Amino acid sequence: MRRAVCPGSFDPVTNGHLDIVQRASGLFDEVIVAVGVNVSKSRLFSAEGRLSMLEHGVVGLGNVRVEGFTGLITTYCREADAVAIVKGLRSGTDFDYELQMAQMNAHLTGVETVFMPANPQYGFVSSSLIKEVASYGGDVSGLVPDFVLGPLTEKLAQRKAE
Ligand code: PNS
Repeated sequence: MRRAVCPGSFDPVTNGHLDIVQRASGLFDEVIVAVGVNVSKSRLFSAEGRLSMLEHGVVGLGNVRVEGFTGLITTYCREADAVAIVKGLRSGTDFDYELQMAQMNAHLTGVETVFMPANPQYGFVSSSLIKEVASYGGDVSGLVPDFVLGPLTEKLAQRKAE
């Protein structure tokens, strides 16, 4: 049984994330989408909201499950008995950032990181850009799952009102 972890903040999940998860599910026996719930950056969506959107997003992928994690991803991988971390790469900038983390994670516990090139269709998609564009009324349909669109508009309106 070869198990991999796809970690992230998923604030919110995008179609680019789901594309990576789906492709990883074809390469490994089991994939855990690990949602970071202890990260200090302020989030638009609560941990519960992010987990529930991911649960929705992986329906139909029989060997994929969603879990929250706190602390180091390496500790989580060891406890989950995962042999690899899968990360999507959109650009050289992603690579520079991810390489350092991959090397640190390998140093810590020896866990491997597998880089997967982003589908060019989603090469420009990031959760932060989705939030920015949507906050100014831009159309992000097709870039995030349809079930994210309503909660995204709602959360952004709430944030504006605060
Ligand atoms: O979607 P993001 O924000 O790029 O996800 C980043 C995440 C959650 C995968 C990364 O910050 C992470 O692994 N955090 C857990 C804490 C940790 O292990 N930090 C050391 C990484 S070398």
